[in-house]
Amino acid sequence: MCGIIGYVGDRKAKPILINGLLRLEYRGYDSAGIATMENSGIKCVKNKGRVAELENCEEINILEGTIGIGHTRWATHGKPSIENSHPHLDNKRTTAVVHNGIIENYVELRNFLTNNGYEFFSQTDTEVIPNLINYFYNKNEGKSKIDFLRAIKSTVEKLKGSFAIEILNNDFKDEMFVVRKDSPMVIGKGVNENYISSDIPAILSFTKDFYFLNDLEFAVLSKDNVEFYDINLERFDKQVKNIDWDMSSSEKGDYDDFMLKEIFEQPKSIRETIGARVSKNNMIQIDELEITKEYLQSVDRIYIVACGTAMNAGMTAKKILEHFCKIQTEIDIASEFRYRDPLITEKTLCIYISQSGETADTIAALKLAKEKGAKTIAISNVIGSSLVREADFALYTHAGPEIAVASTKAYTSQIVLLAILALYFAEILGCESEEIEKLKEEILSLPSKIEEIFDNTEQIRKFAKIISNEKDVFFIGRGIDYTVALEGSLKLKEISYIHSEAYSAGELKHGPIALIENGITIVGIMTDSNLVQKTISNLQEVVTRGAKTFIVTNQNLGNFNFDEVVKIPEISSYISPILSVVPLQLLAYYISKEKGLDVDKPRNLAKSVTVE
Ligand code: G6P
Repeated sequence: MCGIIGYVGDRKAKPILINGLLRLEYRGYDSAGIATMENSGIKCVKNKGRVAELENCEEINILEGTIGIGHTRWATHGKPSIENSHPHLDNKRTTAVVHNGIIENYVELRNFLTNNGYEFFSQTDTEVIPNLINYFYNKNEGKSKIDFLRAIKSTVEKLKGSFAIEILNNDFKDEMFVVRKDSPMVIGKGVNENYISSDIPAILSFTKDFYFLNDLEFAVLSKDNVEFYDINLERFDKQVKNIDWDMSSSEKGDYDDFMLKEIFEQPKSIRETIGARVSKNNMIQIDELEITKEYLQSVDRIYIVACGTAMNAGMTAKKILEHFCKIQTEIDIASEFRYRDPLITEKTLCIYISQSGETADTIAALKLAKEKGAKTIAISNVIGSSLVREADFALYTHAGPEIAVASTKAYTSQIVLLAILALYFAEILGCESEEIEKLKEEILSLPSKIEEIFDNTEQIRKFAKIISNEKDVFFIGRGIDYTVALEGSLKLKEISYIHSEAYSAGELKHGPIALIENGITIVGIMTDSNLVQKTISNLQEVVTRGAKTFIVTNQNLGNFNFDEVVKIPEISSYISPILSVVPLQLLAYYISKEKGLDVDKPRNLAKSVTVE
C-alpha cells in the first residue's frame, strides 16, 4: 500500500527522501509528499500524482532540513488530492505525521477531536493522528521527550486498525518518532545517519543494517542513535540485522522494466531458493524446521493460506503435498479464511505464503491459527517481515527483491520451496523414495530449463502483438495446469487491463462456452500426459466456434490446428507450473508493452496490501 520513508543525519533530507520515495513508488502512486524540519519548524510539500510531480513543485526547493519524513500514497480514505496527501499536520502545525495502514475508528476520533475544538481539512483517516498527539501532548504538564512519547502512546492506544507512523514535532528538532502495529516498517542504521522505510530495498543503497520493529514498539531516531521503547515506555535494546541483498537486484539495470528483469532472473532466483536444500541422493535439508515424524503423523490436515499470486502458488503446492505426503491439504484465500471459522485444531498444520510477508489478511489468518493451537509455517521472500516474525517457523524463498507489482520470480520460487517442503515431509514420513529422488533431480534441472524457454520470447512477443487489442481472454487447463491458468489470467488482467478468466478445462461446457465467439483468444496449458487429450477435446470445441488459440505445452500434440504453440521442456507435471507460467508471464508483459502501459505500476494496484 503506501510507502513511507524517513531520514535523520548530516545531509539534506530532501534528495534522500525523494530517492526513497521513487523506490517505494510501487507501493502506491496516487500522490506524494515530504516534510522536513527547518530552523523555523516543520515545512511540508505535497502533490497529487507520482513522485515526479512532487519533485516538480517549486516549493520543494526551500526544504533544507537534515531530518524529514515522506510518503507515497495509495488512496483508501479520500480521493487522491493535495489535501489528502501525507504528511498531515495538526491544527497548530507543530506535529507532522505520515501513516501507512487504516484507522478504522477515525470517524469516532474525529468527532471526539471536533468536540474539543479541532478542525479537519482532509477526508483521510490519518489526520486524526497528529491532532490526537497534539491533544495529549498539550494535556501533559511536561514537554520532555518522554512526555511526547507518552502523548504518542496515548494516541496509539486510541487507534483501532493498522499503522506504521512517522512523527516530527517542532519541540524535538533533531529527532524522529516512529511506532507500528500490523503495518510494515524497518529502521536502517547508518553512520551518523539513520533511516526509516516501509521496506528494505528502498534504503538498501544507504545501508545493509536494519532493525525490525515489532507491534507496539516505539523508536526515537536521531542522527547517531536509535532508542527503542516498549509499550510501557521502558527502554530496551534491539539487535541489528545485516541484510546481504545485492543492491543491483533492486535496480533495473539494462532492462526496460522491473517485470521483464524479474522474469529473466528466474533461473537465478530458483537456484538460490533451492540452495543447499536439495542435492542428488541426499535427504532434503531444511534446517529452519523442527518437525518430527510423530508430529507429521499426527497432522490430519494442512491449510495453505495466501492472497493473489501467492495463493495460486499454494494451489499448485496442495497437489504436490497431497500426492507425496498423503495428507489432506486445503487451500484458502486469507481474507476468507480469517472470517470463516475454519476447523483448526492442534492437529492442523497451517502454511502461509506471502512474498512481502506484510499482507494484512495473511498475517491475520496466521494469528488466528496460532490462537487455535495449530503449528504455523511462513513462506516469505522478505527477511524479518511481519508474517515471519509471527510464525512458528519461517522459510525464505531467496528470490531477491521483487519490485514490479505483478509477481513473477516470487511465484516460481514459492512453488519450488513448497515442492521441496513436500518432499522433506515425505522423506520424514518414510514415503516411497524412487519418485522423491526423481522429483529432486527435476527440481535441480529447473534453472536450465527456464533458460530454454527464453528462446521462445520472440514468438510470444509476436503473438502478444496480435492479441493486444482483445477485450476478453480465457485461460484453461486441467489438474495442475488449471493452477497455472489462474496465474496466467491474473498476470494478464493485472498489467494489460484485458478482461481475463481462468477455467478448469472441464468446466468450459458448464457455462463459459456461451462466451466463446469468433476471434476470441483462448490460452490452453497442457503439461500432464494423462490429461492432455481431454484438454485438446475442450480446445477443439472452442476452435470450432472460431476461437484463436495460444498453447503452452511440453507434449507432442499431433496435428491440431492451434494458432500458436509454445513448446516448453518436459518435466514432472507436479512442478510443471514453474516452467509453463514463464510464457504466460511474457505474454502478459508484451501485451502490456504493446498497449503502452506502465508494466511495473499498473493502475489501482499495489505491491503489498497492508490493509484489509
Ligand atoms: C498484491 C500484489 C500481488 C500479490 C498479492 C499478495 O495484490 O499486487 O502481486 O500476489 O498482493 O502479496 P504477498 O506479498 O502476500 O505475496
